[in-house]
Amino acid sequence: MSATQRTTVIRSSGSYLPPQVVTNEMLSRIMDTTDEWIVPRTGIRERRFVMPGVGPAEIAEHAARAALDAAGLTPADIGLVVFATMTPDHYFPGSGGLLAARLGMSTTPALDIRMQCAGFLSGLQTADAFIRSGAFDRVLLVGAEVHSGLMPWPESVWDVMLGRGDGPCDPYWYERASGMRDRAVLFGDGAGAMVLEANESGDGRGFLGFVMKTDGAHWDKLYVPGGGCKSRPYFTPAMFESLGTIPIVEGRQVFRLASQLMPEAVRDVLAKTGHRLEELDLLLMHQANLRINESVQKILGLPDSKVFNNIQKYGNTTAATLPLVYDEAVELGLAGPGSLVGFTALGAGLHWGAAIARL
Ligand code: ACO
Repeated sequence: MSATQRTTVIRSSGSYLPPQVVTNEMLSRIMDTTDEWIVPRTGIRERRFVMPGVGPAEIAEHAARAALDAAGLTPADIGLVVFATMTPDHYFPGSGGLLAARLGMSTTPALDIRMQCAGFLSGLQTADAFIRSGAFDRVLLVGAEVHSGLMPWPESVWDVMLGRGDGPCDPYWYERASGMRDRAVLFGDGAGAMVLEANESGDGRGFLGFVMKTDGAHWDKLYVPGGGCKSRPYFTPAMFESLGTIPIVEGRQVFRLASQLMPEAVRDVLAKTGHRLEELDLLLMHQANLRINESVQKILGLPDSKVFNNIQKYGNTTAATLPLVYDEAVELGLAGPGSLVGFTALGAGLHWGAAIARL
């Protein structure tokens, strides 16, 4: 069978959420925020954070092993590792090689993707292109984030938040944490993985199409000003002092762009693959804000039964949201063999897009 007749199917998926739950009330111990502010605006009730010293490659390993186990495969069965994250273990090298080493791979190539919330979607397209070209038969794709590393406060403040130390919070850190409260409440740590593989059966299963777009003119709507080699040296104590290592988010602009561009991308990919919206069994969206996803659902006119969100429990896990929401949706029986599933995401870059797959 020729390479052009190959498709890429999702063989299995796996998730890892760190055990430490951080509720909105726990955040309110160290910053000026409330559950009453967070839930109506974002839908988020709690998120997970890793313990100190745990990086994205480590949590990615748990998700990857869960996906491999679900498929009855071992790392030796994988031809390529693709790792999407915006919170890598190190400035360089990327976390892909670290994950591969953790899995006992010593020569398997590993590719890193830096496309933030659209990273996993781009990873799906990359894996699909490699598989359809015949370059690889099986790809392990992981999205993993440790956003807690972006939080600048010391361990004594974490102790107050987690109830391990006596409060109240040091007023200096309370004020600093409150200065970033609009962003600090949004993110969580987590990892999700998929094993993607070639399907030459001609049964119609697999990814049917992608639409991916970038508008770099919006780079400053969502970015980290401190750090990076445009500055010499690339990091200074002043950057840390001025909270320059914390992402800047033009929240309302991002909200508006996401609500407009994700439905457009879904319509585009449906048109490109010759499918109608009504044929979609499930649409899985990036989990940045439940209100964004409700807006997308409304614009597309999809019933509640055709969307699924889990941001309420995990916050925004950036590159990990799509595999986490997919894994949970499949586990709950919301999609299965034969289902037509859409994926869409938008994130810093700006990068956005959509994909459609027959499971
Ligand atoms: N708790 C209490 N009050 C808060 C909080 C908080 N956590 N955050 C902000 N406020 C206050 C502000 O200080 C402000 O008060 P003021 O009116 O007295 O000045 C008021 O609430 C409104 O603040 P805004 O920042 O304008 O709040 P907004 O209504 O825009 O909601 C939000 C913020 C939830 C972030 C929203 O803009 C959003 O969801 N945007 C899209 C999601 C997003 O940008 N995610 C970023 C990551 S996505 C990625 O690709 C990585």
